[in-house]
Amino acid sequence: MIKFYPTAKFDRDAAILMISKEQLDKKRFEFSNDAIKSEILSLSKSGRFSADTDELFPINWSGRLILTLGIGKSESMTPTAFRISVRKALLSSYLKKISDIEIIAHLQIPFIIHGIIEAVILGTYAWKKYVTDEKETKEVSSKAYHIVASPQKSYEEAMTICEGVNAARDLVNDNADTVTSDRLERVIKDIVRDRKNILLEILNRKDMETRGLGLHLAVNQASRKEPKLIIVKYHGATKDSDYTALIGKGITFDTGGLNLKPTGYMETMRTDMSGAAAVIGALKNVVALNLKKNIIFAVAIAENAIGSGSFKPGDVFKSYSGKTVEIGNTDAEGRLVLADAISYVNKNYKPARIIDFATLTGACVIALGHDYSGLMSNNEDLVKKLLSSAELTDDRAWQLPIYPELKDHVKSPIADIKNTGLKGAAGALSAGEFLRQFTDDTPWAHFDIAGTAFVQEQGRFYYGHGATGVGVRLITDYLIRN
Ligand code: BES
Ligand code: MN
Ligand code: ZN
Repeated sequence: MIKFYPTAKFDRDAAILMISKEQLDKKRFEFSNDAIKSEILSLSKSGRFSADTDELFPINWSGRLILTLGIGKSESMTPTAFRISVRKALLSSYLKKISDIEIIAHLQIPFIIHGIIEAVILGTYAWKKYVTDEKETKEVSSKAYHIVASPQKSYEEAMTICEGVNAARDLVNDNADTVTSDRLERVIKDIVRDRKNILLEILNRKDMETRGLGLHLAVNQASRKEPKLIIVKYHGATKDSDYTALIGKGITFDTGGLNLKPTGYMETMRTDMSGAAAVIGALKNVVALNLKKNIIFAVAIAENAIGSGSFKPGDVFKSYSGKTVEIGNTDAEGRLVLADAISYVNKNYKPARIIDFATLTGACVIALGHDYSGLMSNNEDLVKKLLSSAELTDDRAWQLPIYPELKDHVKSPIADIKNTGLKGAAGALSAGEFLRQFTDDTPWAHFDIAGTAFVQEQGRFYYGHGATGVGVRLITDYLIRN
């Protein structure tokens, strides 16, 4: 829980008090508590606190904890470093048993309050649903944070958006057999319930058969679960303004199919619906913020299971678009469900632009690592706007090239196109090129989030272990500003 009030009170069990180098040098603090001021100055004089970045010093002030947090030179503080730093303070052992915390940051940094909000909501998020030790589960959640700042609409908005990010993370983190297509359908229905400006279309197996979504059906062939293409038409703007379509890859588990993934590569594949989770997080935000925009949200859900019913390498399937596809590898399943979703949404909803999110290729992880999502597009204006949102939200993305000769990478001798590229070369690009060939030249952008969706180590940036909710902040910002 976060609350705002305009002046520092030092009346909670603990306060995090941020201090920059400048403030310490000039002895200028913008709070009015002389006892604490002189305490800090004497700590500084004796060399025990110098406001370096990440420096923490606990002060006991009449039974309350004042945790000073060094910010360094505020001009050289980056938004990312700031969130990391605040998160460290929030998760420090000093505050472990304290649940009522004031956060004081009288600093001249533009992103400061937004940074604190994100450090609190995103930085303290932890997936503990299946941890039974109560000590571990209670500590992080259910604390009260009192941020010293005049309440503003943009702060409320930032909090709402962060909740959307965490909702996406919950969907990604939970078991593959819990977050099934049925479950995702219920989650979406819960979000849009009782909204009048929303139309819902859900294609199940039978509907896909009659309409010919042959690629999506092929991927789901060995699964006992229902394949689903769920489309939400959100009408928030005037009749004549155009629609932006968001499409998410929703593979609830990716075994690789008959081209089975080896041990070491399959363990995190419940996260292969992170693209769908990003779209659902964005939907939650758009509904909560009541955005005055026209948007299509689509999630293509299937399970790439293995069994005697599996689709087979070497076989050819017909897509919804009519193009035939040779299966070079059953583990390149994401582009198959997405290709059908892209052409279905494009043909039946006629959006002005399509933006997809997909944990699409291991090659993208090799190319860009875990800190930047890959971005490919057939439209430079769209790229510009998306990269600007990426920068503003710290939901980072980096453009990868797409060019005519990539066509040769996905050529097939027996079908119109193949779902694999050249061996060991430009795997992220051939996947993007495959998708592009189903866009019918509608402005389109594709985010490969294979590297950014999940943190396998203890933590990265201001994310702990687990899903990051990548894409939600970026795309919500894009929708707000465009
Ligand atoms: N879901 C994987 C991509 C992935 C890899 C996501 C690592 C998250 C982390 C995707 O379906 C896949 O298996 N891609 C193959 C494509 C290849 C067979 C052409 C890959 O990247 O190896
Ligand atoms: Mn795969
Ligand atoms: Zn996959």
